[in-house]
Amino acid sequence: MKIKVLAALLALGCAAPAFAAVNQLVIEPNAKGARIPDTMYGLFFEDINYAADGGLYAEKVKNRSFDFTYPLTGWNVFGKVEVRNDGPFEKNPNYVRLSPAGHTDKHTGLDNEGFFGVSFEKGKEYRFSVWARVPDGGKSKVRVELENPESMGEGQDMCAQEIEISGKEWKKYQVMLKPSETVSKGKLRVFLCKPETTVDLEHLSLFPTDTWKGRENGLRKDLVQKLAGLKPGVFRFPGGCIVEGTDMNSRYQWKNTVGPVENRPVNENRWHYTFRHRFFPDYYQSYGLGFYEYFLLSEEIGAEPLPVLNVGLVCQYQNRDKNAHASLDELQPFIDDALDLIEFANGPVDSKWGKLRAEMGHPEPFNMKFIGIGNEQWGPEYPARLEPFIKAIRAKYPDMQIVGSSGPNSEGEDFEYLWPEMKRLKADLVDEHFYRPESWFLEQGNRYDNYDRKGPKVFAGEYACHGKGKKWNHFNAALLEAAFMTGLERNADIVEMATYAPLFAHVEGWQWRPDMIWFDNFRSMPTASYYVQQLYSVNKGDQVVPLKMNGKQVAGNEDQNGLFASAVKEDNGEVIVKVANTGNAPQDLAMEFKGLKKNQGYTSVEITTLHSDNPEAENTLDNQDIVKPVTTTVSIPVSDFKNAPWNVTIPANTFAVYRFK
Ligand code: AHR
Repeated sequence: MKIKVLAALLALGCAAPAFAAVNQLVIEPNAKGARIPDTMYGLFFEDINYAADGGLYAEKVKNRSFDFTYPLTGWNVFGKVEVRNDGPFEKNPNYVRLSPAGHTDKHTGLDNEGFFGVSFEKGKEYRFSVWARVPDGGKSKVRVELENPESMGEGQDMCAQEIEISGKEWKKYQVMLKPSETVSKGKLRVFLCKPETTVDLEHLSLFPTDTWKGRENGLRKDLVQKLAGLKPGVFRFPGGCIVEGTDMNSRYQWKNTVGPVENRPVNENRWHYTFRHRFFPDYYQSYGLGFYEYFLLSEEIGAEPLPVLNVGLVCQYQNRDKNAHASLDELQPFIDDALDLIEFANGPVDSKWGKLRAEMGHPEPFNMKFIGIGNEQWGPEYPARLEPFIKAIRAKYPDMQIVGSSGPNSEGEDFEYLWPEMKRLKADLVDEHFYRPESWFLEQGNRYDNYDRKGPKVFAGEYACHGKGKKWNHFNAALLEAAFMTGLERNADIVEMATYAPLFAHVEGWQWRPDMIWFDNFRSMPTASYYVQQLYSVNKGDQVVPLKMNGKQVAGNEDQNGLFASAVKEDNGEVIVKVANTGNAPQDLAMEFKGLKKNQGYTSVEITTLHSDNPEAENTLDNQDIVKPVTTTVSIPVSDFKNAPWNVTIPANTFAVYRFK
């Protein structure tokens, strides 16, 4: 058998070291182990880095309803264009009036710059829609064009359509555009046609028809596919700090994100001014991707929805004014938001909010089981506000699982204060965050081994390894995340969910890095961290299996050769061993399966590795295969585990998943 293993290793490109000590791993597939929650590996979504507008949400028009603080942000106007504010949509009152330019050679109209350009692909279809009226009655006509600024002036119309507008009533019009060129930094242009008759335009929108599930108010298909590919067990939304807002006006209010998209008020995105070196004053939330869409997406990718709501506190980092928060006697509307949200997600169709869900297209409940209250809060002001939420939710929805927070830090004073508070308040889960350096990840493999088993469960709600000096998605950061995650897996009895953060970043519009998935206007790219998350989720297993190396938990301690390991089994009997070798030398592993029953054994093992010789290796949009798992087809027959261990060498700097069948 050893010869076959060596042959397989050579096929994998791994040289067996001459004299390395063998690491004895003892695995007990039949010993009692915790069930692994279905929610274990999931997604954290926040509209940061242009993740929603300009990203997942497939709308191509920026400031489509002219309701940004400066109503013409994103637009370039020419001729006679006036912004007015008595439009048909109460919560988005602005619109534009296009009037004759005053000379036969002049034109009236406007261009939209999109999100880092209006992008479109040759041969694909795009749906342009607009609400319009002719204020004086009668008829008018507008011409809609997709433009390539680089070939403009050459007399070429890439594609254009005319829309006839009639009558004084606001109506929705739409046309299909099919460009003859692929352009990533194009423009959308709308002209008032000659002879010009004044027209009013509102909510100008452009979507590809090829969205996820073909929806009109749709999501970018490639990005959703990447999410689905992670087989997430939970989907947390809508953030992050945007839940809190810089002040009460800019906090995320879910009720503003449901109902007809035209009437969802825009909100500034607090990430637009968070970092001066990455300043995006035109970063707003259209709320076209709102809570209904988030619930639907969760359902479609098979994840439990986990909405997080504001607890009555604004972002304590960004706003140091104690009076910016809601006082305790101002909390009721915030608590009502939480109760109403549960009704929106789960209530009957004849309830107020359940009815709205049904009208939006989903009469069946979304079956929401978790709710987060507060994001990264700290200090006594947090438990003081959380307590009345918990009381109200428990009284009306006793089965709802409530997620509290241990603040922004993975340890320290605030953390030490908040955990006991969460226990006192009987939160079901505590959301821990850790954006930490490599050294932290190396040291924290056994973080949860001694957590109190009686307290709330853990939601590792935001984490990522931030490599030294270079905060990108390099391989070593991903490897250390994989190593750390063996500790999550081993402690699946108390760690109920874990979500890497942030999820998405536009290559031109990011504020924060590293991130799990990068994209531009056409392409998207999984990082090494994405693959680590995926390897865990598709190999989640159903039950923890005890595993020890030389008599100890394998959590990277110095005497364990930089190895981290954990094991699980599926209900079908397959055992999955995950090993991260964080060291620079290959390591021999001897895996002994203890306590197998008479006829129990495995006939093959599939090995998947994520490896790079270069710790700084990272994928790029142009070269996406630099770091990628190799799911080997090498399958090693294993005849008898009872008499001898199964031997393998894990290369240096490698995360490996061994699936015994
Ligand atoms: O993920 C980015 C930010 O990090 C989140 O918005 C916040 O919760 C944390 O500080």
